[in-house]
Amino acid sequence: MSRSRSNKLRNDIAGINVKVPVLGGSYKRFIYFDNAASTPPLKSVLRAVEEFMPYYASVHRGSGFKSLVSTKAYEEAHRLAGEFVGADLDNQTVIFLKNTTEALNKLANRLPLKKDSIVLCSLLEHHSNDLPWRFKAKVVHIEIDGEGRLDEQDLEGKFEKYYPRVALLAMTGASNITGFLPPIHKYARLAHQYGCPIVVDAAQLAPHRPINMKKASDPEHIDYLTYAGHKMYAPFGTAVLIGDRETFLSGDPDQKGGGTVSIVDRKKVVWAHLPNKEEAGSPNAVGAVALAAAIKYFRRVGFKKIVSHERQLVKYALKRMQEIDGIRIYGDKRASLPEDRLGSVPFLMEGEPHGKVAAILSYEGGIGLRNGCFCANPFMQALLKIPPKKLKQIQQQIRESYRAEVPGTVRVSFGLQNTTREIDHLIKMLNIISEGKYKGKYVVNPRTGEYRPKGFKLDLHAFLPF
Ligand SMILES: Cc1ncc(COP(=O)(O)O)c(C=O)c1O
Repeated sequence: MSRSRSNKLRNDIAGINVKVPVLGGSYKRFIYFDNAASTPPLKSVLRAVEEFMPYYASVHRGSGFKSLVSTKAYEEAHRLAGEFVGADLDNQTVIFLKNTTEALNKLANRLPLKKDSIVLCSLLEHHSNDLPWRFKAKVVHIEIDGEGRLDEQDLEGKFEKYYPRVALLAMTGASNITGFLPPIHKYARLAHQYGCPIVVDAAQLAPHRPINMKKASDPEHIDYLTYAGHKMYAPFGTAVLIGDRETFLSGDPDQKGGGTVSIVDRKKVVWAHLPNKEEAGSPNAVGAVALAAAIKYFRRVGFKKIVSHERQLVKYALKRMQEIDGIRIYGDKRASLPEDRLGSVPFLMEGEPHGKVAAILSYEGGIGLRNGCFCANPFMQALLKIPPKKLKQIQQQIRESYRAEVPGTVRVSFGLQNTTREIDHLIKMLNIISEGKYKGKYVVNPRTGEYRPKGFKLDLHAFLPF
């Protein structure tokens, strides 16, 4: 396979040469393969934050010059965040919150759902696009096939079955486990045929593919969308919720207090204009600046380069990983790489618990990734085909604080800084695990399910900057 070793995007990321302690007392250059959880910061984001800080002051409240600059930065960031995903800024509002979870909870609080409304929720969802709906309406899950793709027949059948009670289709833009990309515009068209809006959780999609919400006159438009800065190389606590102004103009905001009002007397409240009405408390101007700087970076580099880099990595990883004895990859594992797939690869090693594999990779390989169910328990249970009886048994164990046998996989997920060389190192480590040649003796803490090498202590305090 021809591949280029160089990755020019890597130099745009902060912290790429950091060395971390590994078993035996030496240090290794850290490799980060947990980008689906949170990405490292862009250098341009850090620069923007640093340049902004001398001008940082109260947003929306102060009269001084710095307040004017901070307010302008905060408001401009909203515009950029909307434009980035093709929002219709005349009719939609862009609300800043702290993460995707908060954004989806706000939407669940603000949509006029009834207890007997149906929310069709794909089985692929992160808990954040499933649990908020369960407490407001009746969630009906859409099934998946053996590779974790959505079952379209089931989706159509459920629209037919529950019409006209279906109040919302909740769909991820990309699975945070298998990287599967549901055809969101096709599903939006279907939902609209049944008079139903769609919310797309774009937490995973936004850093990897261009998004166009499209105008409301287009049958394939996206009604509501969320994404977060910490998965877009801007980890400063800002996420985005976009939706039509009508939704948020009607009714009271779910969070009330400072910033949300225009005028209050002892009895009455006049709510502020949007998005202020929905952004309670002091705004996070630094997070807004960071997100805006990340968006400018994405615009400058362009998705063509970003997608091509990612596809090169995942193609290479899938090919090399499948050469390892005893590995099992979940989801679509074709190294020919279909278009509907991002760079997230879940896997298990025969005979080795997922937590132990992750621990060996970290303590001996200096590789950071994630293991477990990735906050998408129902999807993971379906992928691993866990029978209901076994699931009950596991639930009971967890109630009793025993987590040594919690099911899950290990996940590698790629970001802008990753290289094929880093994948080579991962493959080397996985071969070591497959051959049982790792150095440590790993013991599990049954209460947390975490594995650690016996006798190895890390002084994490030494790395704290305060
Ligand atoms: C698809 C998806 N949705 C939602 C979330 C939750 O995001 P946040 O941590 O920003 O609340 C995640 C986080 O991993 C995710 O992958």
